[in-house]
Amino acid sequence: MAIDDAKLQAFIGNFVRDLGAVMHAATIVVGDQLGLYKALAAGPPMTADTLAQRTDTDARYVREWLSAQAASSYVDYDPANDCFSLNAEQAFALAEEGSPAFVPGAFQIATAQFKAIPKMVRAFRTGLGLGWHEHDVALFHGTERFFRPGYAANLVANWLPALEGVDAKLKRGARVADVGCGHGASTLIMAQAYPASRFFGFDFHAPSIEVARAAAEREGVADRVAFDVAPAKSFPGLDYDLVAVFDCLHDMGDPVGAAAHVRETLRNDGCWMIVEPFANDRLQHNLNPVGRIFYSASTMICTPASRAQEVGLCLGAQAGEARVRDVVSRGGFKHFRRATETPFNLVYEARP
Ligand SMILES: C[S@@+](CC[C@H](N)C(=O)[O-])C[C@H]1O[C@@H](n2cnc3c(N)ncnc32)[C@H](O)[C@@H]1O
Repeated sequence: MAIDDAKLQAFIGNFVRDLGAVMHAATIVVGDQLGLYKALAAGPPMTADTLAQRTDTDARYVREWLSAQAASSYVDYDPANDCFSLNAEQAFALAEEGSPAFVPGAFQIATAQFKAIPKMVRAFRTGLGLGWHEHDVALFHGTERFFRPGYAANLVANWLPALEGVDAKLKRGARVADVGCGHGASTLIMAQAYPASRFFGFDFHAPSIEVARAAAEREGVADRVAFDVAPAKSFPGLDYDLVAVFDCLHDMGDPVGAAAHVRETLRNDGCWMIVEPFANDRLQHNLNPVGRIFYSASTMICTPASRAQEVGLCLGAQAGEARVRDVVSRGGFKHFRRATETPFNLVYEARP
């Protein structure tokens, strides 16, 4: 086959950019764990030696790390005085835990994906699943740290108000279940915003529930937020005003079964909020930078997580509105609409 030189050059250009990003990812995780970004953000611009002293780390390694950050535009470098610094935007994204743009958690997820390679090679051959619990702990912590900023920025300000009458109910005092809650980031954000309501977080991953319980104690809301280990198809309780699922419906083996159970536990005038990764219905419309992230995570994490459970429907992280609507209506819901969206998330409202 004849090689088109221009196309090859373009492909290699992409490859250089991609490989640079992949290699850089490991240094982000190291810098995040050692507090290098935070110490650099504290300023003023500093040499590698100063950053090493402030973080009690090895100066030679820190210099190489800083050089890697500068080459990736993650830090600024001033050759006039051999100093490195974070500008305001870099500091916001790399050093401010909880800022709406905080990104290091995403790279923890990436390390977990790499660690899953041998297991996924086997899974491709056997067709067996790879459960959420079978991943490295970096996945659980990375998910919490990457998702929480988006929830903090959108959940109370935009998503809940986009659901009919829900904000007012939560203000008056409502019963809320957060199913597949992981470390409980979304549950706790809602609990802080609506002190008159009671919150029940459920997840079938026991270590995540332990982390969530500790966070509820730490935040002083354990008297009105309970976290318990339970699967989506049989979590306890009745008469919920709101059931929420954040980025986990597509991870479930039997999302239709889960939908049916949500229907049984909701009050007749209750609401099911479904937050899913942003996706269009057709593959060709998801072939973009955001779809690229989600399809990759879906290959290594979400689809095998669903396959590991009963039914194993394997919706995938790019299921799109039409497939989610189908799942929800097969679970017995009569009303379904897209309530709002961000570049990363779709928020649906389902009602009996
Ligand atoms: C991508 S994480 C999202 C966690 C959390 N909702 C968040 O947004 O930070 C998916 C979560 O769904 C949970 N999960 C998957 N299938 C489940 C099921 N059938 N029942 C209960 N939890 C489930 C996993 O244990 C995991 O914590």
